[in-house]
Amino acid sequence: MFEQPRQLNITLKSPAEIEKMRVAGAAAARVLEMIEPYVKPGITTKELDDIMDDYIENVEHAKSADKGYKLGDNYPPYPAATCISVNEVVCHGIPGSYKLKDGDILNIDVTVLKDGYHGDTSRMYIVGHVPPRVEELCKVTQQCMYEAIKTVHPGSNIRDIGDAIEKVAHKAGFTIVEEYCGHGIGSGFHEEPSILHYHNYNNYFNPSIIVQEGMCFTIEPMINLGKKKIKQKNGGWTVTTADKKPTAQYEHTLLVTSNGVEVLTLRKDEDFPRIITH
Ligand code: MF3
Ligand code: CO
Ligand code: CO
Repeated sequence: MFEQPRQLNITLKSPAEIEKMRVAGAAAARVLEMIEPYVKPGITTKELDDIMDDYIENVEHAKSADKGYKLGDNYPPYPAATCISVNEVVCHGIPGSYKLKDGDILNIDVTVLKDGYHGDTSRMYIVGHVPPRVEELCKVTQQCMYEAIKTVHPGSNIRDIGDAIEKVAHKAGFTIVEEYCGHGIGSGFHEEPSILHYHNYNNYFNPSIIVQEGMCFTIEPMINLGKKKIKQKNGGWTVTTADKKPTAQYEHTLLVTSNGVEVLTLRKDEDFPRIITH
């Protein structure tokens, strides 16, 4: 029966691999910095994607890990270089002919593959003026991620992450999407373990995982202004909130160090330490 926890394949990175994770993480972070001035009313999400695609290949000399990515046999391969999720789109928004307008919020999620290793990160952008509660949604989502990152060190429990996120999100009156998780990352885009963003219990399918030096994983909470329920559009990629209210997400790729955590995808615009020691 289920006495033994499910065996997970969690890779611990060697010093040489860690260096490559740093390089990939920094490249992914620079994509989000580079695109910022282009995020203005009138530009289409496809135009943004093309700029990032070109930059990833010709400036970073890396590849988009999203392009052609397969979720499973029931999905067509992912058709763009990045995911751009506007307003009620929770994640995996496919760049297209939609023109940004004043009052939009959007998440840009970039995953680069450089020298065999992945860097995965996303942030929100606000176009012009949005209602205070929507601005708060973005701020609180970033704070959820930051508080979760602060729990990570060798000996901590992966479940502390969900608890930290839940505390911040619920205090502000927002809800947490449960269908999508953070993930281990390295030479694989999505490695084990899954990182749940809400309070969760230890069981066969969700064994307790103690954080160890050399692990790399993402934390990428998706937080909704309204109800937590989501809708997957006609079996396709795009996921929206069921109530069509706005949703936000932030994501960083992390490395567990000997005494804390290093944020591999930190950007210049962030007021958060790259290295936290415990
Ligand atoms: N970057 C997403 C993540 O954080 C995954 C995107 S897969 C894609 O895990 F195919 F939609 F690009
Ligand atoms: Co990710
Ligand atoms: Co991502």
